Amino acid sequence: MIVLTPLDEAALVRLLEAAEAGADPLDVMPPVGGPPGWTSARRDAFLAFHRARCLDPATAVERTWVIDADGVAVGAARLESHGDAVEAGIWLARAARGRGIGKQVTALLLAEARASGAAGLVASTTVDNRGAQSLLAGIGADLTVDGDEVAADLRLGRSR
Ligand SMILES: CC(C)(COP(=O)(O)OP(=O)(O)OC[C@H]1O[C@@H](n2cnc3c(N)ncnc32)[C@H](O)[C@@H]1OP(=O)(O)O)[C@@H](O)C(=O)NCCC(=O)NCCS
Repeated sequence: MIVLTPLDEAALVRLLEAAEAGADPLDVMPPVGGPPGWTSARRDAFLAFHRARCLDPATAVERTWVIDADGVAVGAARLESHGDAVEAGIWLARAARGRGIGKQVTALLLAEARASGAAGLVASTTVDNRGAQSLLAGIGADLTVDGDEVAADLRLGRSR
């Protein structure tokens, strides 16, 4: 069963373990210099990144959830406010990709976006990320290509 668990300090530790075990740092956080892989500097930056963006009320800009598959952390999902819309993001550890989890998480994020009263859901990805484009097209988002970038936009209406 796929569940979105709101991020807290305990969930953040589980999320870092999932990232270290199965994701490239560049897929899950901004670049940090140094040798490749999950160095201690990147682990610290991963924790600081999520504390600043989600857990610290003084600086938070988004809601983040750990994606739990049968109770095991396999990735993260987020919704960041942009005016009256929310920007969605998802990453999954390699072993969890290609099994339909992204599709379920996208549906859960869409439900959260609707429940929040947002007027739209937006997302951005790249032209080579067919999986992400498929997820976004699958919920009816309009996709616009600009060079290597793909912008997705779904109007949510006010029917709740
Ligand atoms: C992108 C990502 C979230 C997709 O999640 P996923 O669980 O692997 O995707 P699913 O198994 O739910 O598949 C959803 C759809 O995408 C398609 N798909 C998935 N991976 C694909 C790939 N590499 N190439 C082409 N299509 C792909 C599936 O066939 C499925 O299509 P359908 O709706 O027609 O059945 C996941 O692969 C991931 O975390 N990648 C690394 C981080 C990332 O790129 N995040 C998005 C940044 S914008």
